[in-house]
Amino acid sequence: MLSQQTIDIIKSTVPVLEQHGVTITKTFYKNLFEKHPELLNYFNHANQVRGRQQTALANTVYAAAAHIDNLQAIVPAVMQIAHKHRGLGILPEHYPIVGENLLAAIKEVLGDAATDAIINAWAEAYGVIADVFISVEEDLYKAAEKDGGWRLFKTFIVAKKVPENDIVTSFYLEPVDGEQLPEFQPGQYITVRVKVPGDEYTSNRHYTLSQPSNNNEFRISVKVEDECDPKGVVSNYLHKQVNVGDTIEVSAPAGLFTLEESGNPVLFVSGGIGVTPLNTMLQTMELGRQVSFVQCARNEQSVAFKEKIEKKVEELNGSYRVLYSEETGYVKKEDLAPFINKDTEIYICGPAPFMETVISIARDLGVPGEQIHFEFFGPAMSLEAL
Ligand code: HEM
Repeated sequence: MLSQQTIDIIKSTVPVLEQHGVTITKTFYKNLFEKHPELLNYFNHANQVRGRQQTALANTVYAAAAHIDNLQAIVPAVMQIAHKHRGLGILPEHYPIVGENLLAAIKEVLGDAATDAIINAWAEAYGVIADVFISVEEDLYKAAEKDGGWRLFKTFIVAKKVPENDIVTSFYLEPVDGEQLPEFQPGQYITVRVKVPGDEYTSNRHYTLSQPSNNNEFRISVKVEDECDPKGVVSNYLHKQVNVGDTIEVSAPAGLFTLEESGNPVLFVSGGIGVTPLNTMLQTMELGRQVSFVQCARNEQSVAFKEKIEKKVEELNGSYRVLYSEETGYVKKEDLAPFINKDTEIYICGPAPFMETVISIARDLGVPGEQIHFEFFGPAMSLEAL
């Protein structure tokens, strides 16, 4: 239990830390990886290069600290991050390392302004916040182990590699031990851990499971990326260097972006490879619920799963529309309006600017926030929304 004095110090210093956010987090990561290079086996090197993760972790600590006297309020937001941490295999012993380096960075950047009282208060607060994450994550590890699941990573063999189009290839993955796979919710992802030749550390990436649950295999569908884009390192490695018969390490399914049972009409809006979770959700639906699917892609060559989606939508007596941005530009209000009424539940997945556009169209059309479901690829910084 934190004292009122500690709580007061934390609350009054959150804005100061936020103000120095970028400098503190840059210092933090630099020191963290210098002292603990082994942690580069966990962090997405591409996110580091682009500076996105640099702000996600520390900003979330500050956002959590702003709620230090009512941490219950942050549990829903913690859950989303905890799923990612669990998929990556983040463990309790990692938390003090992060805490120590974050505090050292605060001290380094604030200099004399960081008095002992301030540093001690933050050390206490970080401990309390870390305990929330550790306990939520332990529950997720336990749940992952149940019903044929596993705690950290398991070795899978690439049983099939099937191109879906010029840029997307599906990988069918079977566990080497031949055990039955646990059931997962459509929309969930697995974390793939690989060692890319020439790279000193392992790389982890989350990939949505792109077909409904079955006991024998997982399927992921991976888009090839630009050679120069560091975020494409793992996807391009899978495409070009991982072949049938090769093995990769895989975590048990995780994630909270799943299709909720409801009688309400559902509209799926996908952008590019963001189609993968939405297609998996669609494929598990049964006749009875009103469904529409608006699939956005750059052009006919890059659209994935189009025929399968059209066929399933037809079976469900729903509506399907494809929009190619090269022909008609980005998705507009009038493209979505015909599929939306006040009860519609919208599921959106795609690149960040696409999602922002669709979310703002949905709001403009009067869809209440709780009916708009989305998942950003990449760091979510979801606590900032609190
Ligand atoms: C991802 C917060 C502790 C490793 C994230 C994300 C947030 C976050 C907001 C982005 C989630 C997303 O992608 O949606 C926190 C907070 C922590 C904490 C508030 C402490 C209270 C740790 C620790 C480790 C760790 C102890 C391990 C050393 C990672 C990694 C990622 C991540 C590897 C994925 C980043 C990437 O894309 O490479 N964390 N985290 N985190 N966190 Fe944490």
